[in-house]
Amino acid sequence: MSSDISIVILAAGKGSRMRSSRAKVLHKLCDFEMLYYGIKTALELSDDVSVVVAHQKDRVIESMNRYFDNITYCTQDVLNQPGTGGALRGVDVKHENILVLNGDMPLVTPDALKPFLSSKADIAMGIFELENPDGYGRVVIRDGEVERIVEQKDAGDDELLISSVNAGVYCFKKELLDKYLPKLSCDNAQGEYYLTDIISLARDDGRVVEPLLIDEEKFKGVNSKLDLCQAESMMLSSIRNAAMVGGVGMQLSETIYIGSGVKFEGECYLESGVHIGGNTLIKNSHIKAHTVIEDSEVIDSTCGPFAHLRVGTRVVESRVGNFVETKKAELVGVKAGHLSYLGDVEIDRGTNIGAGTITCNFDGKDKHKTIIGKNVFVGSDTQIISPCIIEDDVIIAAGTTLNTPKVESGTLAISRTPLKIIKGFYSKFFKAKS
Ligand code: UD1
Ligand code: CA
Repeated sequence: MSSDISIVILAAGKGSRMRSSRAKVLHKLCDFEMLYYGIKTALELSDDVSVVVAHQKDRVIESMNRYFDNITYCTQDVLNQPGTGGALRGVDVKHENILVLNGDMPLVTPDALKPFLSSKADIAMGIFELENPDGYGRVVIRDGEVERIVEQKDAGDDELLISSVNAGVYCFKKELLDKYLPKLSCDNAQGEYYLTDIISLARDDGRVVEPLLIDEEKFKGVNSKLDLCQAESMMLSSIRNAAMVGGVGMQLSETIYIGSGVKFEGECYLESGVHIGGNTLIKNSHIKAHTVIEDSEVIDSTCGPFAHLRVGTRVVESRVGNFVETKKAELVGVKAGHLSYLGDVEIDRGTNIGAGTITCNFDGKDKHKTIIGKNVFVGSDTQIISPCIIEDDVIIAAGTTLNTPKVESGTLAISRTPLKIIKGFYSKFFKAKS
């Protein structure tokens, strides 16, 4: 961790271009809010991280409090001090160098920021080249030196053609911000104090501005839902690539979704269309096509195709097949091959869950638990009305509705409507109809 740098993340804006009732920085990609990624990266580099908030500030702070506890929040006076320049006014930091990040830059990594930390210039600023620079501030470069930044809304026709854009990440000397922030004006198309105007003020005073050429892959700014979707694709592709380099095999990798909280261990294989989210661990397992897994653990097992493992599922040395849905379920050494709902349940080794088995865990008011022991044979189309304990070595006959709190070891449980066979019924029935 660098000890002489403070980081300030700007997250006070409305994000009107998202056209959403939710603050922009709280929109999620790969399962986490945009701002989460910026803060996570910042905390790896600095012991002094501040986040500037205003729009929906309580929601923003509450959301980030779920992940981080050592952040300073500063409230921007957006009415009197609008804009990215206004956001920095009044922010108090500990160190002499300040790295400023826009909060809508979720792809940024600690490695990508290293060149900013090692710069000796008065200002280091990130620039990237784009074929389509739409939406970004354009960087006017003359004789190889940065002259100023023009926001898209203030740019003339010639300036709009400039392909060098401002990434929205800067490293400033503190004394320089103290000097120039009060000098910013809001005489521009948006009536805002632009942080970007500091560049030309500093240049006019002969200060050194170092342009750092960086890559959009790490610094893409998200302004609209289209940007968000593109940024998520970019993030997904690096998550998948890292997983594959780490030994995870994938079929048609571009069809696979993996959230950024997912971990893999050992040798895993994911078939096409798999969706894995939340804080999931997959270890030495094969996940077949179109399986959805959320906040679960799958260890030494096979799941799918078309299985749905919901929050709190733990599957160990088991096989969970097509159209099996689980929730808060612990399956150890179990086969549940087809068409079941297994919720609020523990199932032990050697047990076979027949097709169509349902744990009826909800009585209309409360949820209840089912415990199934070892070597139990649960016949197809069984409904287990929970709470229910099925001890080891039990057979449940197909079609049984198990409305008892306990089935003792060694027994058969069977509930069936007696079968009737009525001779000649078929022809009578259809003749009567015609
Ligand atoms: C900004 C830059 C632009 C750059 C782009 C890179 C300015 C004036 N322009 O434009 O040159 O190319 O980022 O992505 O800085 N924010 C506040 N308070 C405010 C306004 C914004 O905290 O009053 C925060 C927002 O929450 C956001 C960040 O600052 O996280 C950037 O704001 P945004 O409105 O997205 O700026 P851009 O128009 O993208
Ligand atoms: Ca932006």
